Amino acid sequence: MSAQSLLLGIDISTTGAKALLIDPEGRVVASATTALTLSTPRPLWSEQSPQEWWDGACSSIRLALSQAGVSGEAVAAVGLTGQMHGLVMLDESGEVLRPAILWNDQRTGPQCDEIRSRLGRERLIQICGNDALTGFTAPKILWVQQHEPQVYERTRHFLLPKDYVRFRLTGEYAMDKADGSGTILFDLRRRDWSDDILSALEIPREWCPPTYEGPEVTGEISQQAAAETGLRAGTPVVAGGGDQAAGAVGVGAVQHGIISLALGTSGVVFASTASPLIEEQGRLHAFCHAVPGQWHFMGVMLSAAGSLQWYRDTLAPGVSFDELVGAAEQVSPGSDGLLFLPYLTGERTPYPDPLARAGWIGMTLRHRREHLTRAVLEGVAFGLKDSFTLIQQAGLGEIHQVRVSGGGARSPLWRQILADVLEAELATVNTTEGAAFGAALLAAVSAGHYASVPEACENTIQVTGSTQPGEAAGIYQTFYPRYRALYPALAEEFRLINQAANPD
Ligand code: XUL
Repeated sequence: MSAQSLLLGIDISTTGAKALLIDPEGRVVASATTALTLSTPRPLWSEQSPQEWWDGACSSIRLALSQAGVSGEAVAAVGLTGQMHGLVMLDESGEVLRPAILWNDQRTGPQCDEIRSRLGRERLIQICGNDALTGFTAPKILWVQQHEPQVYERTRHFLLPKDYVRFRLTGEYAMDKADGSGTILFDLRRRDWSDDILSALEIPREWCPPTYEGPEVTGEISQQAAAETGLRAGTPVVAGGGDQAAGAVGVGAVQHGIISLALGTSGVVFASTASPLIEEQGRLHAFCHAVPGQWHFMGVMLSAAGSLQWYRDTLAPGVSFDELVGAAEQVSPGSDGLLFLPYLTGERTPYPDPLARAGWIGMTLRHRREHLTRAVLEGVAFGLKDSFTLIQQAGLGEIHQVRVSGGGARSPLWRQILADVLEAELATVNTTEGAAFGAALLAAVSAGHYASVPEACENTIQVTGSTQPGEAAGIYQTFYPRYRALYPALAEEFRLINQAANPD
């Protein structure tokens, strides 16, 4: 391997810290992932240890280098990506003050109300492109201010998950614009911090790190990080992007008309836009893209493949996904009238409701485990159709292609169900390494291998297969309105159930 010929993408996801080495043509040279643990110390809470991200990143980088049989000298540049919105608070000397509060944490309902009342919901949407939702970072900062004043007083910096790893790699406080906009402390049009929002929420401007476009260099691997990771001191580290923006780069959703549908723990429908468009009611998220000069819309379902994972772990432990999903092929579309609501951790799009709950509805004695499985696959597809429809209605013009990715997209049955439910052709691409691949491509642009992010995508990403909607599409047209009717009918009951279960 010639000196400095590889690009390293690091992805700090909710489930693992991954290190991916690619060559400039986009071929995967090595990939290693270290599992991460999630802590839910109270109902609605979701936290992780930043130290565990760092330890996981170090192990995965070392493992990937050794798999490739190279030293850190072979790496030309590093790109970072990771779960969005998670809050890491640091003191003056960069010590972590409390566990990180994650994207799927739902404790901040009251703080979201407070943000809306301090700024006005419409004004907030006009400035940052989004309503205040529990998943985003700003309400988490207010929560710490109100519930842990001793932590708040010592805070001097805040970062997002991958940017904490960046800090340990380079010693620099920095963030990319895509993830920065996901804090909802951003002025979407200016692609930088909004003084109006910061001052309304009384968050000091000095806490906010400088922000960079995806392929821009934010610092270099320090001597200490070189010793811990095996990378070469001085290797440039580029901004990268939040996992959705970097994932979109990783499947080539960097131009008008190509939609990315990511079926990971969360489920995301993503469309890039050439200008900072907003959905007036804030039902779609509107953020900066990891591609300089581009923005994007997205709809986020909180428990997509996460629903299947929970279902398998809880009701079919030890059964492989292949076996479980394979049996569901025998069940007819519509699961003989069984519907699944996928709101295991509340929901974001189209219902920004932390108290929404999951469940199967329509169960009879005839239903067996394979019906439950198929209903989960179908319920997630219906939920994604909600976001897909909002994107279709957002006035972006014709959708030429939907590119599907993520762990769930490996299942041919799930892809078929999605094509039938969305009534759209789904394309698969040759790249299956997701956001880490996108982060590595951003590093490739920075290292001079390509003149732009779209050029990098064009040269490395090809469509490998397609799934067409079939006969079942008609059946799903009948069931989708029934699915749509369930949440509005149950929303108030979900709130009351939550109150009964958590009287304090
Ligand atoms: C996006 C979001 C999730 C996380 C998952 O808004 O919250 O997709 O980024 O990693």
